[in-house]
Amino acid sequence: ARIVEHTFNVQNLTINRLCNSHVITAVNDSLPGPTILAREGDTVIIHVLNKSPYNLTIHWHGIFQMLSGWADGPDMVAQCPIRPGSKYTYKQGRSQDLNPSHGPCGSVPAYKFKIIKQEGTVWWHAHISKLRATVYGAFIIHPRAGNSYPFPKPYREVPILLGEWWNANVVDVDNEAIALGTGPNISDAFTINGLPGDLYPCSRNQMYKLKVKQGKTYLLRIINGAVENHLFYKIANHKMTVVAIDASYTNPYVTDVVAIAPGQMVDVLLTANQPVGSYYMAARPYLAVVGLPFDNTTTRGVIVYDRAPSSSVPLMPVLPLFNDTPTAHKFFTNLTSLVSSRFWDPVPPKVDREMFVTVGMGVEPCPPNTTCLGPFNGTRFSASLNNESLVLPTGLSMLQAFYFNVGGVYTTDFPAKPPIELDYTNLAINNNLPLLFAQKGTKVTKLKFNSTVEMVLQNIAILGKDNHPMHLHGFNFYVLAQGFGNYNAATDKKKFNLINPQMRNTIAVPFGGWAVIRFVANNPGVWFMHCHIEAHVPMGMATAFVVDNGPTQETTLPPPPADLPTC
Ligand code: C2O
Ligand code: CU
Repeated sequence: ARIVEHTFNVQNLTINRLCNSHVITAVNDSLPGPTILAREGDTVIIHVLNKSPYNLTIHWHGIFQMLSGWADGPDMVAQCPIRPGSKYTYKQGRSQDLNPSHGPCGSVPAYKFKIIKQEGTVWWHAHISKLRATVYGAFIIHPRAGNSYPFPKPYREVPILLGEWWNANVVDVDNEAIALGTGPNISDAFTINGLPGDLYPCSRNQMYKLKVKQGKTYLLRIINGAVENHLFYKIANHKMTVVAIDASYTNPYVTDVVAIAPGQMVDVLLTANQPVGSYYMAARPYLAVVGLPFDNTTTRGVIVYDRAPSSSVPLMPVLPLFNDTPTAHKFFTNLTSLVSSRFWDPVPPKVDREMFVTVGMGVEPCPPNTTCLGPFNGTRFSASLNNESLVLPTGLSMLQAFYFNVGGVYTTDFPAKPPIELDYTNLAINNNLPLLFAQKGTKVTKLKFNSTVEMVLQNIAILGKDNHPMHLHGFNFYVLAQGFGNYNAATDKKKFNLINPQMRNTIAVPFGGWAVIRFVANNPGVWFMHCHIEAHVPMGMATAFVVDNGPTQETTLPPPPADLPTC
């Protein structure tokens, strides 16, 4: 195994988009930022130098961080932010991996941040405020030497990073939304590998272009880095074969459209089997219920076959309608895991901790001496899980509180079920009034090392009728079943796929529906769980799991690195 070492210079970058020049925060002067290439088993060390004017943290979305929670990144969960002018090196691991050659002057040993038992497409992004709109990039884990893909080796691999662009400063957009208590201003464009494409003003020359050779097969590593929106992605006249989702191999699934929630990854094989010519790829939002304000624009890039005449006019795919839930649901539910793949573990049959968690929006009173403009008089939007709206701690991160056993940072009383059982599909606000006003707190769930958790996620769409892509740090989970209406244990348990369920780290909990996930808490530390629609995080749609250390040194979280930022 090798050492993969990078430096991220995070600083202002002036770039032109949509007819104007803008100052954004970016890594190494590029949008998206650099693609990290590693192999399973490699040690990854990334020095983050924060030369931006903002507090910063970086998260490695989808990486398990086995015993390296100090490198996970979510603001105030795993670490205090890296202040402007400061730096932090994301590297971790067990004490026996100490590598003296990487300490300053060889004196202080450094930890390793090893990628084990996972391969595929993950990504990295800022995990504080809305900075991830411009601070993000792909992270690709190849099989280690001697291992190969469970599908024919593609001719080339191509990251397709879908993103979302605001003309305004994204941190301001976020702060205004929080202060006003409304939803954030909608974006001005979607992007493919940072480029909006020619359907936007002044954007003709800012279109992603992929050159292909007829007859060859390409592995597209599609990542939804968009900040607020689920997307449909399609290529004119070509089918795609899904081979992995969220860095977990699937049985090959042929489709002409990909539905992808914020935070999800979908790897597809694309064979250039059409007549020589050019073909658009395009993406635009999927929103269960149209009626909320949203950015309804379309980004596109172009696939150009080798020897295509320069005069060829690209064909445009017909994208599903914005509210085409049947198409999205079909894609989300038809995927299954490839159980013959290297890192597959059978579904643990026994559940130690059952949870039923409602996911929804609500309101809270405006803070004193503020004018907020939320849905009712004197309120602003809030969001909650089981009617608990998470407030992040301030002085100490949750992980520090766990490691140093400091009280008062979080409480371990996150409820395993909602305070009241309701018909969650009855959208009359009066019906769900008891779940409209959430409690505020920093409540987490404590788990024994290696215990198995099963969680029903029930979407309660009383306000803000939306799908919520729930993302879990530190683990991939089995998706046992998904459906519409109220989850009903008596009948829905029979629908569980316990043989080859898909594995994900982000599940789109459908509007008017539910999903059931299961995971094994085999990674000591504090693991954030939150909606990957960025606006819902400051509103409180989040909680965390605190997983105890195991019985041995090999199952115990090592001490924090010396350069861990302080608050
Ligand atoms: Cu991709 Cu907690 O995030
Ligand atoms: Cu959400």
